[in-house]
Amino acid sequence: MSAIIVTGTDTSIGKTVFSAGLVAALGASYWKPVQSGLEEETDSQIVARLSGRPVLPEGYLLKLPASPHLSAEAEGVEIDPGTLSLPQVDGVLVVEGAGGVMVPLNRETLFVDMFARWGAPVILCARTQLGTINHTLLSLQALRGAGCDVVGVVFIGAAEAEVEDTICQFGKVAHLGRLPVIEELRAVPDRGRETKCPPMGADGHGPVSHRAKESDALAKAFAAHIDIDTIKKALQP
Ligand SMILES: Nc1ncnc2c1ncn2[C@@H]1O[C@H](COP(=O)(O)OP(=O)(O)OP(=O)(O)O)[C@@H](O)[C@H]1O
Ligand SMILES: [Mg+2]
Repeated sequence: MSAIIVTGTDTSIGKTVFSAGLVAALGASYWKPVQSGLEEETDSQIVARLSGRPVLPEGYLLKLPASPHLSAEAEGVEIDPGTLSLPQVDGVLVVEGAGGVMVPLNRETLFVDMFARWGAPVILCARTQLGTINHTLLSLQALRGAGCDVVGVVFIGAAEAEVEDTICQFGKVAHLGRLPVIEELRAVPDRGRETKCPPMGADGHGPVSHRAKESDALAKAFAAHIDIDTIKKALQP
């Protein structure tokens, strides 16, 4: 088995959408070690819906949508990093962290410490919007400082060629492509309601056809914009 870690410069920047595209492109399985927040669709549910690929059970499922250490404490639980070994699967395992790199799992351990312990290559997802140079370079520094092998940066959002180049130049890091804004996947505040009770289209296949459109749009954008060959090379032992 080989594993690859997907992290980001922040929460809600598109790690799960990118992970879904990646598991589909690699024919991989997906694992979310810690899910904080259960009111909306979980990351595992989104990946299953968008990729149709196998999803392993989360290590910790925590109700409060907060930093994992705080979500855990709110339930009287302590996250034990010793219980978060990479699950064994046939083929490739894509692992998505929670939030960003320096997110605490408990009062002693950050996600970046787990990435280093797992020893798997890391993809850093970054916005293209203002502020991303600082966040991305700091995240790269933290990853490398912990001894992680960074495959490269995936940008998410509208093209900002000079910003993307600046990050790759200062960060001495590979540009793995940019996932553009995919209209079919734009944040839908009432997504839960929409997927549970969608308006039926004229074809009478509202929910199913909408899901298929989302998956197709992601697969097309991924194939057109992401450097999957470099990612595959990083997976080779
Ligand atoms: N390329 C994209 N085009 C359009 N919308 C996107 C894209 N990527 C992500 N989104 C939307 O942005 C929102 C946040 O994306 P996502 O859940 O992937 O972020 P995340 O970084 O995994 O968040 P978290 O920190 O909660 O795990 C979602 O509503 C998603 O559909
Ligand atoms: Mg996510």
